Amino acid sequence: MSYLILGIESSCDDTSAAVLRDEYLLSNVMASQSVHKEYGGVIPELASRAHQLNIVPVVDSALKHAGVEISQIDAIAFTRGPGLLGSLLVGTSFAKGLALASGKPLVEVNHLQGHILSHFIRQQGKENRSPKFPFLSLLVSGGHTQIVRVTDYLQFEVIGHTIDDAVGEAFDKCAKMMGLGYPGGPVIDRLAGEGDERRFRFAKPHIAGLDYSFSGIKTSLLYFLRDRLAENPSFIEENKADLAASFQKDLIDILLDKLIKAVKLTGIREITLGGGVSANSGLRKRVLSEGEKRGWNVYLPELKFTTDNAAMIAMSGLCKFRLGLTTTLDVAPVSRVSQMI
Ligand code: KG4
Ligand code: ZN
Repeated sequence: MSYLILGIESSCDDTSAAVLRDEYLLSNVMASQSVHKEYGGVIPELASRAHQLNIVPVVDSALKHAGVEISQIDAIAFTRGPGLLGSLLVGTSFAKGLALASGKPLVEVNHLQGHILSHFIRQQGKENRSPKFPFLSLLVSGGHTQIVRVTDYLQFEVIGHTIDDAVGEAFDKCAKMMGLGYPGGPVIDRLAGEGDERRFRFAKPHIAGLDYSFSGIKTSLLYFLRDRLAENPSFIEENKADLAASFQKDLIDILLDKLIKAVKLTGIREITLGGGVSANSGLRKRVLSEGEKRGWNVYLPELKFTTDNAAMIAMSGLCKFRLGLTTTLDVAPVSRVSQMI
């Protein structure tokens, strides 16, 4: 049976809609919100207003680019959570309204599952490598840092997670402390390419098992900068690239330390990355090189599937729809999906 799935994503500050014909991507349209830049972070109230403005043209454009009418769609998949409640409400309400008006079934999607399943999206003319089950997913975003054991399309087990900040937050806060703007991850990534990663060292966490912690390293950078700035007010400006490179290397070391441990514990050598931080060029290189050294099969998401996008929501929706997992119209969004992944 072949299915056409419309996906809608509005969990944070990107409004996106996509159409899949089975695993094949027909369209993936995105409206990013620049309004948050001047505030140094996402302002929830402004994000929901921008979603409200963008959602109709974005969905319309995704259908047009795919060359399909809403009447041809088999199911409407939308992000139910986790994310910002006001943002999720816009996508959820829109999806419910569209489902009611068109008579199409609704499928709720967990945003984090979307990031993990993005590896199964196929594109015409591309290599389309997908991991084999079971695999480990290192899920690294602005809101989450997890190692997930995936045994089937909808069988997920979180085997490690952060006990405080997410790694994306650590990137963003580092950039903020250095006065580099928001979102900080891409700026740190670019600067790190020009710096010496061995120049500075920051405090590493000592957490048992497969869990992560990123609050200590952030505080370590804060005190380090405070002390250096007291001696030399131009310290950041003069050492920007080395600071970015060193901080990024420490974050990558922390991520890899637990990933290597997870491989040893589970014996699983199929490794995927997902989430906004998986766009980081240092992390991508490092996972590839560790993989080569240790005999892992590594699957890196294409850059357009690293940050929030509706293609991954449509992909997750397809997996659920194939199993008959649809959602009723009384569904409400949830900001946290505790262990629902
Ligand atoms: O997955 P995502 O788009 O949204 C969430 O679900 O959180 O991730 C956003 C996060 C931000 O913290 C951003 O700074 C980070 O991903 N990010 C990066 C890079 N591109 C985005 N971090 C490091 N290097 C990058 N190139
Ligand atoms: Zn995300």
